Amino acid sequence: MATGKTFYLETFGCQMNAHDSEKVIGTLEHEGYERVDSEEEAGLILYNTCSIRDKAEQKVFNRLNDYKKLHKAGKRFAVLGCVAQQEGEKIFDRAPYVSLVSGSASYRKLPEMLDRLEAGETRITGLDDRQTDEAFETEFTSRQNPYRGYITIIEGCDKFCAYCVVPYTRGRERSRTSASVLAEAQRIVDQGYTEIQLLGQNVNSYRDPDEKLSFADLLAAVGQVPGIRRVRFTTSHPRDFTRDIVEVLDAVPTLCDHVHLPVQSGSSRILKAMAREYTRDWYLERIAWIKAARRPISLSTDIIVGFPGETAEDFIQTMDLLAEVEYDCVFGFKYSGRPNTPALTMIDSIPETEKASRLQVLLDRQREIQRVNYANHLGQTLEVMVEGPNPARGQVTGRSTQNKPVNFTSAQPIAPAPGSYAQVLITATHPNSLVGEAV
Ligand code: SAH
Ligand code: SF4
Ligand code: F3S
Repeated sequence: MATGKTFYLETFGCQMNAHDSEKVIGTLEHEGYERVDSEEEAGLILYNTCSIRDKAEQKVFNRLNDYKKLHKAGKRFAVLGCVAQQEGEKIFDRAPYVSLVSGSASYRKLPEMLDRLEAGETRITGLDDRQTDEAFETEFTSRQNPYRGYITIIEGCDKFCAYCVVPYTRGRERSRTSASVLAEAQRIVDQGYTEIQLLGQNVNSYRDPDEKLSFADLLAAVGQVPGIRRVRFTTSHPRDFTRDIVEVLDAVPTLCDHVHLPVQSGSSRILKAMAREYTRDWYLERIAWIKAARRPISLSTDIIVGFPGETAEDFIQTMDLLAEVEYDCVFGFKYSGRPNTPALTMIDSIPETEKASRLQVLLDRQREIQRVNYANHLGQTLEVMVEGPNPARGQVTGRSTQNKPVNFTSAQPIAPAPGSYAQVLITATHPNSLVGEAV
């Protein structure tokens, strides 16, 4: 059993949340807290939450409910992240045993909030509104991912898509200086990482406050940090996807062969209702640029089905787009009405069963597209970065530069470590993964 100040932290939601948690953990450790593996062992229980869809939010309240009994044993609860910012002080009403509620824009104040918690205060809030223009930079990042170093280059979102909570939960767009991003990239390499992932809700909306580098320039500069072997970036917004991004993908070999470009819908009418600020044709033009790159760039996307007013015809257009682009991965979601968003006032005329059936049709079709795409790798030798063992199968699992999962066997007596690289001959393919042998 750990003694002294201990904490348990669980993260929900996107990679930005996962990386925020690394910074929160670093901050807590700097304040003298020790991390433990379960709620039962911890003095302070923190949930870093997500509210992107109804189910994500419900998960958080279920978890709080499951463990509220621990409050009687003197444990304190903190709710961080997007549900915290969205619900604010209402969380104290719904879960009175929670002592601290903070959105991501207030994490700079965590040390001070922790002091107040230790002094016995019970309703501590960090709920910056969208006015903040400060990024969450901390020297106390405690990196939890053994093979990938995350760098948030831009926080928040100013796009206000009609369905989305993010602009309300994460505040306005604010970028870090290119100098500080490059310094962090160097630190990550010095710690032994060879893969970096640049993060932002809209990573390519990046604007250097010092006006030195464009997003494409920054991508190239990170890719040229000595020691870097792989650079990923997510999520790109079609509206800000400029041609020079493809040019640097062509020019800098360390940039991975993958672009995640969420389309949301294949119907320009629905895109307009969503306030996505682009049309189907505009999107497909960017896809054509990416497909014309000198090396094969893998494409993935996010799609929402059943947005208010989506007709059968609109949905067919999404299906057509799927067939045209031939993505390697699609994250499909049923539209979920969210608090504060304009779409909530639109008539949500599509029954849940219809949304579910559209999603199924979409995912079934996509599976067939991927079956073909993945089969093209049969007989190829791919460079795979090892992520860890896959004990169920006695294999090692990792990813190709195109972000495709590869499960492989290795003749070495000691399994290759996370973060190491292997050349893998692909001997079998599935719609979602590749299988092979290290050569
Ligand atoms: N900034 C990124 C997306 C971040 S949110 C972009 O604009 O592309 C991740 C995904 O969640 C979105 O791409 C969208 O497909 C989905 N999503 C967001 N809000 C949603 C909602 N209210 N209902 C269903 N899916 C939603
Ligand atoms: Fe949400 Fe749209 Fe911003 Fe993406 S661009 S985070 S979908 S508001
Ligand atoms: Fe969820 Fe917030 Fe990320 S709502 S998806 S954790 S930005």
